[in-house]
Amino acid sequence: MSNIVWHQHTVNEQQRAQIKQQSSVLLWFTGLSGSGKSTLANALEQALIARQKHTYLLDGDNLRHGLCAGLGFSEQDRDENLRRAQEVSKLLLDAGLIVLATFISPKHHQRQQVRKALPQGQFIEIYVSTSLEVCEQRDPKGLYKKARKGEIATFTGISDEYQVPLNPELTIDTAQGDIASQVESIIDYLQAIGVMQAQNQTDDISLRLGVS
Ligand code: ADX
Repeated sequence: MSNIVWHQHTVNEQQRAQIKQQSSVLLWFTGLSGSGKSTLANALEQALIARQKHTYLLDGDNLRHGLCAGLGFSEQDRDENLRRAQEVSKLLLDAGLIVLATFISPKHHQRQQVRKALPQGQFIEIYVSTSLEVCEQRDPKGLYKKARKGEIATFTGISDEYQVPLNPELTIDTAQGDIASQVESIIDYLQAIGVMQAQNQTDDISLRLGVS
């Protein structure tokens, strides 16, 4: 890296976001497999698009088909999976987008690393807190069944620990209430912190978003 110099381009993140009448933030959905992260993020993205917002959804399962193909579920592979997710998220934020990212991201250090890589307030952690019992009942991909039979090593919640977020910005249990009100609560939050409107060029995004 020593012979590579960062090129400072003239158009910046703030300008790209401003033209879209929004602030770029990363909505990071964490929770067990089957907790409803993807379903909730999908519904939220639809609601944001309906409000003329510019978004992108980075889905953990989908990334593992391409950019992260070949990575498994050891701690080391998950760290690498999430490092790549973080780097892609940073590019999408730089494009001025509202980014929705759904990754189990089971460990404190993994989520903390993404948070620390961004300006204060730009990382919004949404803990999808649906209980293991409910996730296991839903078992949409039949993976819990396999994990219980010992057919999947290090399966989150069964044979590998999920560390519950200590200070998430939002917590949503998808087994409680309906998805429309869950989406509405996230939109309300985004409105309250000013994500849904253009920012003033002189405004410091990190300071403004830091105020919740
Ligand atoms: S993460 O831990 O690295 O953040 P990620 O969200 O990308 O995980 O992928 C999780 C998805 O992979 C789950 O939704 C599930 O469908 C699938 N999966 C396959 N094996 C495992 C496993 N051992 N533990 C958890 N999820 C698994």
